Amino acid sequence: MATNRTFTMVKPDAVEAGNIGGILNMIEEAGFKIVAMKYVKLSAEIAGKFYEVHSERPFYGELCEYMSSGAIVAAILEKDNAVADFRKLIGATNPADAEEGTIRKKYATSISANAVHGSDSDENAAIEGSFFFSQFERF
Ligand code: PPS
Repeated sequence: MATNRTFTMVKPDAVEAGNIGGILNMIEEAGFKIVAMKYVKLSAEIAGKFYEVHSERPFYGELCEYMSSGAIVAAILEKDNAVADFRKLIGATNPADAEEGTIRKKYATSISANAVHGSDSDENAAIEGSFFFSQFERF
């Protein structure tokens, strides 16, 4: 059964471009409630741990370097059917394929600088949320 939470990050390109507010606004307008949030900068090592599941993929090094290149905003979001609905809201990984009205269509500039992350399953949403937030920060 689908749970009602997902995990997101506003990525370094979007933070640097001053798009935190615009992206959070789209998220809230789409009916998601922000239930945990923090502004942090990852080291390459921590980014490597977060993305360990992709460690065999050719872009892993580039992805970890990029995600540790600047500040990010991490958040846990709540809504019915959160994971699937949020993946719809963010759009395709490659902004060239993202549909009109999605966050990546509006804010992403390339396949790596693609503005936002969204968990791909309920299981990963729970793992990723606990990676960033302690039990006192996610309630
Ligand atoms: S997903 O979300 O797992 O279905 O997307 P996927 O296509 O499998 O990509 C996993 C993450 O890797 C990023 N990515 C890339 N980074 C750099 N270069 C290339 N070519 C590339 N392809 C994919 C993609 O943005 C995903 O990051 P997150 O943080 O999950 O959005």
